[in-house]
Amino acid sequence: MMPPPAPRPVRLARKTMPPWQLVPSLLAADFGRLAEEIAAAEAAGADRLQLDVMDGHFVPNLSMGPMVIAAVRRQTRLRLEAHLMVERPENWIAPAADAGADLIIVHQEATPHLERALELIQSRRLAAGVAINPATPAATLEQVLPYVRLVLAMTVNPGFGGQQFIAAVTGKIRALRRRLQAVNPACDIEVDGGIEAETLPLAAAAGANVFVAGTAIFAHSGGVAAGLAALRAALPRCARAPRRA
Ligand code: DX5
Repeated sequence: MMPPPAPRPVRLARKTMPPWQLVPSLLAADFGRLAEEIAAAEAAGADRLQLDVMDGHFVPNLSMGPMVIAAVRRQTRLRLEAHLMVERPENWIAPAADAGADLIIVHQEATPHLERALELIQSRRLAAGVAINPATPAATLEQVLPYVRLVLAMTVNPGFGGQQFIAAVTGKIRALRRRLQAVNPACDIEVDGGIEAETLPLAAAAGANVFVAGTAIFAHSGGVAAGLAALRAALPRCARAPRRA
């Protein structure tokens, strides 16, 4: 018998920004050496890992599914976030949860039943995140902002790594952070797509605190540790120490 879902978190009084986090996206990793790439990211102090689940319908690409989430789960102690770039994500929440995801992000554009999808994630006692594409207004999230754990403001059109950062999204991030300070100050704002040493500060200045990067980490000429170190060096000064020894 499933326990009743945890009550929705009350509005937190904390008005401080949530902590900075660096999240490697495995989409850019070498899948022929995935265990090594995961170990390198973990050793270099990644805060968690992102797995980009794509169905070839919501985005024009096909990537990975619950089987890969489960394989990655067996390789690392890091928390795993499943970014569901799929139509009708409510159909993939249970498989992603069963495979070991700790945080599940669904796209506002992908379902007419966003509240039900987020409720389903929370009923599994997982962190629920909602993503919006560059052209989607922040106002579409007004009803869910008070209780989501994370808002992902996509800084590229989803589907592929290695794209250019869309700087116009920073205005939306700024508006989101202002709104969240009023209704859910502990909520993370995550950015994803084209995040590298030059663009990370732009997103941070606008109010993002979680930075997903694939190419900047796994295609860095100096390797994964150098890629993460370059992003950490680009963080605002107060946050540069890696979390793990
Ligand atoms: C794009 C994905 C991103 C991507 C990261 O749809 O959601 O996570 O893998 O992109 P880059 O390589 O630009 O960091």
